[in-house]
Amino acid sequence: MLRTTARTALTASRRTIGLRAATPSLAAVVRTKSTWADVKQGPPDAILGITEAFKKDSFDQKINLGVGAYRDDQGKPYVLPSVKKAEKLIVEKNLDKEYAGITGVPAFTSAAAELAYGANSAPILENRVAITQTISGTGALRVGGAFLERFYPGSKKILLPTPSWANHAAVFRDSGLTPEQYTYYDKESISLNFEGMLNDIESAPNGTIVVLHACAHNPTGVDPTPEQWRKISEVMMKKGHFPFFDMAYQGFASGDTAKDAYAVRYFVEQGHQVALCQSFAKNMGLYGERVGAFSLVCESPEEKARVDSQLKILIRPIYSNPPIHGARIAAEILNNPELKQQWLEEVKGMADRMISMRHLLKKNLEELGSKHDWSHVTSQIGMFCFTGLKPEQVDRLAQEFSVYGTRDGRISISGITSANVKRLAEAIHEVSK
Ligand SMILES: Cc1ncc(COP(=O)(O)O)c(C=O)c1O
Repeated sequence: MLRTTARTALTASRRTIGLRAATPSLAAVVRTKSTWADVKQGPPDAILGITEAFKKDSFDQKINLGVGAYRDDQGKPYVLPSVKKAEKLIVEKNLDKEYAGITGVPAFTSAAAELAYGANSAPILENRVAITQTISGTGALRVGGAFLERFYPGSKKILLPTPSWANHAAVFRDSGLTPEQYTYYDKESISLNFEGMLNDIESAPNGTIVVLHACAHNPTGVDPTPEQWRKISEVMMKKGHFPFFDMAYQGFASGDTAKDAYAVRYFVEQGHQVALCQSFAKNMGLYGERVGAFSLVCESPEEKARVDSQLKILIRPIYSNPPIHGARIAAEILNNPELKQQWLEEVKGMADRMISMRHLLKKNLEELGSKHDWSHVTSQIGMFCFTGLKPEQVDRLAQEFSVYGTRDGRISISGITSANVKRLAEAIHEVSK
């Protein structure tokens, strides 16, 4: 009715003033304001904001410590030689580009599960790991969050460490879960507040879902020791809590994929039915290929089959099936013993470079006569370091020294090179005097 009236009015007004073209569209006449007029401007992404500021800076010795991707000692993105080889082998196979199944490339998911849980672990040998390929680690978290929202029998509350990866809370909230926090990092001592962590986990209601960073905690670089992991496992078992592991950095932390999987494997050995998110963005440098996996340890092959069927039902309406190219690369590497060995050495090479940059940064700060204790720089692990710098000090680093990091004091170790570490130490020393 409204449409007919509006059209009549428009025709009449055209006739009256003799217009042919350039008249307002019918939609514009019917609409009183733009459909999106009430959409508010959202805040920019904190990390991307740093990259923007870095790009605008014309100083030729500027340093970007906000970046969440590995850089080589020349500060350049690094495509692993094993990845290049795998890619060549795949091209030579002349494969088709048909759709993968809903849960992805089977040769990839089976190898990913073995890499995480261990080829000789009970759930792998007993065929009771339900697994699906995902859109990297973020997609794994989202699929996992949605699965728990739909099927977890207990409370939909999910505990995250304070702080946690900046995207965790949003991913879980958008999955329909309710994120809450547990104590993790102690700003004063620049280390793990283990007692606080354990207390919070222990005092949560029985059966609470708890997110655990399997290794190389982002953003703090602070991980529990093996002994502390054993205690966390014990408390969680006693309380019937559900461990939801996020393992975005396997191998990238220590250089050893088995060592970095310690917590996951220990929890599984203890009988926890864990959820696990994996990413191959960092350890294979497959950032933009979006290669990841989500898995759940089940009680039996029969239960696994039921869980697998529901994962498919959950994923199908979101994106039907995942991309194949990156998964084929990862599968080629993980299933070819020679290539896998080469990849393991390359992962170690990346981890070792970051460890050596940590040592160089600390050494330079000490040589400059810094009065602070910088031992946390070398005791922390992975790509990130929580320096303990205050937001104002980080601002000074950017304004006076063209050194860009996040205002919480986090720096990405991968942005440090043998060529810039001295200048970085001088800048940090200056702002922390
Ligand atoms: C703790 C953690 N989880 C998950 C991810 C997801 O990464 P991606 O989606 O690139 O695999 C990241 C990336 O920085 C991370 O740090």
